[in-house]
Amino acid sequence: MLPNLISQIKSNNATVCVIGLGRVGLPLGVVLANCGLTCYGIDINSERVSQVNRGETPFKENGLDEWLNRARKLGKFHATIETKESISRSDIILVTVGTPTTMQRCMDYSQLHSALERISEVNLYGKAIGIRCTLVPGTVSNVIVPYLEDKSKLKAGKDFALAMCPERILEGCAINELFSLPEIVGGINDVSNAIFAELFRKMNPKKDILYTTPTGAELAKLFTNIYRYLSFALANEFAMWAENYGEDAHEIIKVANYGYPRCNIPKPGFAGGPCLGKDGLLLDNTTFTSMVSTAWKLNEAIPQHVAESIRRRIGLLYGKRIAVLGLAFKAGSDDTRLSPCAKLVEILKGYGAIVPVHDPYIPDTLPIDKALENPDVVVVANNHPEFANLAREIDESGCKLIYDVWGIFDATSFKKAAYMRLGRGT
Ligand SMILES: NC(=O)c1ccc[n+]([C@@H]2O[C@H](COP(=O)([O-])OP(=O)(O)OC[C@H]3O[C@@H](n4cnc5c(N)ncnc54)[C@H](O)[C@@H]3O)[C@@H](O)[C@H]2O)c1
Repeated sequence: MLPNLISQIKSNNATVCVIGLGRVGLPLGVVLANCGLTCYGIDINSERVSQVNRGETPFKENGLDEWLNRARKLGKFHATIETKESISRSDIILVTVGTPTTMQRCMDYSQLHSALERISEVNLYGKAIGIRCTLVPGTVSNVIVPYLEDKSKLKAGKDFALAMCPERILEGCAINELFSLPEIVGGINDVSNAIFAELFRKMNPKKDILYTTPTGAELAKLFTNIYRYLSFALANEFAMWAENYGEDAHEIIKVANYGYPRCNIPKPGFAGGPCLGKDGLLLDNTTFTSMVSTAWKLNEAIPQHVAESIRRRIGLLYGKRIAVLGLAFKAGSDDTRLSPCAKLVEILKGYGAIVPVHDPYIPDTLPIDKALENPDVVVVANNHPEFANLAREIDESGCKLIYDVWGIFDATSFKKAAYMRLGRGT
């Protein structure tokens, strides 16, 4: 029964459902539909489902609008809040719900648990379940397999296939990366591996498929993100050292990296967001001393460091107008989840400052001209490409100080206002 799924995928006779139409699930479902498979996109958010069925994407993702509308025209992609029937009709179930953290820095598995409950309501015999969420290592083997076997009274690997297939796309580049990135497949057995390899090769027949265990796949995902997060923390630590020595970290990093093949230090700046900001936590419940928690502390302290640097420079922030440009967690994104820019705004408000915010990707922020009305300070918190041409406008705004978190400007661009950047000592 299960091996038949492979030929069904090959001949476009397999139906897929994606549970959770977020930044991971919607691009994945839409791409699979464009590749010939019928796909149901399931979400509990009825507004989001209606929006998607009107052909509108609920968040910014390059190219997603066109891919969504092409899939809809082909009649291959249908968004729905109706869970049971859509899962029942599907041969392959991809779980892409959110796995955020709570205020107490624990995993919030409520979305995952509700998705598993819905899945266990249907007959799973002959189906394949792929878990695409980021999870604490061991969750598939120790929770998901026993849960589904218990509820279905079926045997995982024999009656239904199951694999951990972590998502590694970069928001904004999801479509391209779905075609190009190698896939890590941690199936619970060979047939599970073979089914998901076939599914991913639907997107690109030449795609590299890397096989591991379910826990190996969970760990590989975390290693990828934590590696990046630690390298950003190190760059931020270098920024602090450079500041202490009265030097400019940006210049020093440029010199250190240039022509030297064993050095690739990133720029200092804000590191956070819905993945990097939380993924370390999934590993950091260990008993051994962990670099992850140190990196977290360092990266999370940068917004406070920026606020303190401004306070040291201009004195009391109470009543000062501090315009913040950029609210999303990274360049080109409209995602504010665990955004260090949003944290900076709250810290500045906590100091009693008035904080107008502009972000070209976030409609409910102020337009740039309103945000730049009589500011005392302008903080360029995000490196959105749109900000690169704003030097004159900022300089003309009447502000006394510009704080450039990402070092996107040259100090000489500003004739009227003083210029500071993260990692540059004064
Ligand atoms: N955002 C990224 O760039 C990214 C990259 C790699 C991995 N991940 C991981 O992928 C997973 C999904 O992340 P995301 O950013 O897409 O999350 P998201 O919050 O953008 O989307 C989750 C969606 O699932 C829906 N949902 C919740 N419970 C549901 C249920 N029971 N049934 C149907 N729909 C339900 C929500 O309404 C929401 O639309 C997470 O584990 C995340 O850590 C995210």
